[in-house]
Amino acid sequence: MAKYARITGWGKYVPERVLTNFDLEKMVDTSDEWIRTRTGIRERRIAGPGETCSTMSLAAARRALAVAQLLPSDVDLVLVATSTPDYLVPSVASMVQDQLGATRAAAFSLQAGCTGWVVALVTASQFIQTGGYRNALVIGTEHLSMGVDWTDRNTCVLFGDGSGAVVLEASDLPTGLLSFELGSDGSEYDALIYPLCRRPPTQPRGDRSAASLPAHGWPAGLQVCHPGPGRFRGQGGHGGRANRGGDRPDHPPPGQRPDPGDGAPPIEASPRKDDGQRGPVRQHVGRLGADCAGGGD
Ligand SMILES: CC(C)(COP(=O)(O)OP(=O)(O)OC[C@H]1O[C@@H](n2cnc3c(N)ncnc32)[C@H](O)[C@@H]1OP(=O)(O)O)[C@@H](O)C(=O)NCCC(=O)NCCS
Repeated sequence: MAKYARITGWGKYVPERVLTNFDLEKMVDTSDEWIRTRTGIRERRIAGPGETCSTMSLAAARRALAVAQLLPSDVDLVLVATSTPDYLVPSVASMVQDQLGATRAAAFSLQAGCTGWVVALVTASQFIQTGGYRNALVIGTEHLSMGVDWTDRNTCVLFGDGSGAVVLEASDLPTGLLSFELGSDGSEYDALIYPLCRRPPTQPRGDRSAASLPAHGWPAGLQVCHPGPGRFRGQGGHGGRANRGGDRPDHPPPGQRPDPGDGAPPIEASPRKDDGQRGPVRQHVGRLGADCAGGGD
């Protein structure tokens, strides 16, 4: 049985429309300087009409498969992480599977907020490392702009849209995800709320009527709390072997926040190696905004 899930393909899709901090200065009482210094974001991409998580993911998936030199019919699993799916049902994974022609594949989506892509990568790796599947197409995608209140400066500066995809394949070479540590502090579940979407972003295809779908209209109230750098526990896992989360010595008691750390922005504060030093993190948040499961951050 292959021991590792190697990344053999990758691709992304971001919408063409760029919304810069200077554009936002004209919409709300904010400034490029305020946004950049606090979040690192200079611009973000905004989905156009007809662009949704499923359409963006399809484009990213095709690119990833081309790099991996796999055909859609080779794919064993399509796994999509998103909190802004086209619909609650069907899943974005099922839509991508169909439109890609990945007829042999299993398909499901998972929802884990901004950590979605990481959770999906870990999940798909387990299917491969246990020998269940030979490969998996893992996609992170968000269409967050559809729920943004463009008059609320507290939140509208943060989010963007896009999709990222990788292909994982079984390998005996020690590559890919070498270890992981997943954690969760559910006691702060209300720190970030994205209300349930009521507007169908795409119309059902064929002759299926949209009449039964709710009318357009969004509840206001996307809320984002200040995360604080210390909320990210940031252990790098334990070399070579997957840590399944049992040993978490630095986790604070329930309801108590961790040490606020050294003031680094959340992304930089998150990944630390076993020796406490920061490891390298490739960031696209400056150009893509926080597209959460989409992988921009
Ligand atoms: C955006 C963020 C940096 C703000 O943190 P902060 O600097 O501590 O700012 P605060 O929220 O305390 O607000 C400070 C002031 O700035 C103001 N402010 C908020 N948004 C602003 C904006 N876009 N432009 C200018 N001022 C703004 C607030 O109204 C407040 O003003 P007041 O002091 O007069 O009341 C922080 O909430 C953050 O990092 N959020 C990101 C979380 C995220 O992206 N999550 C999703 C991915 S996981």
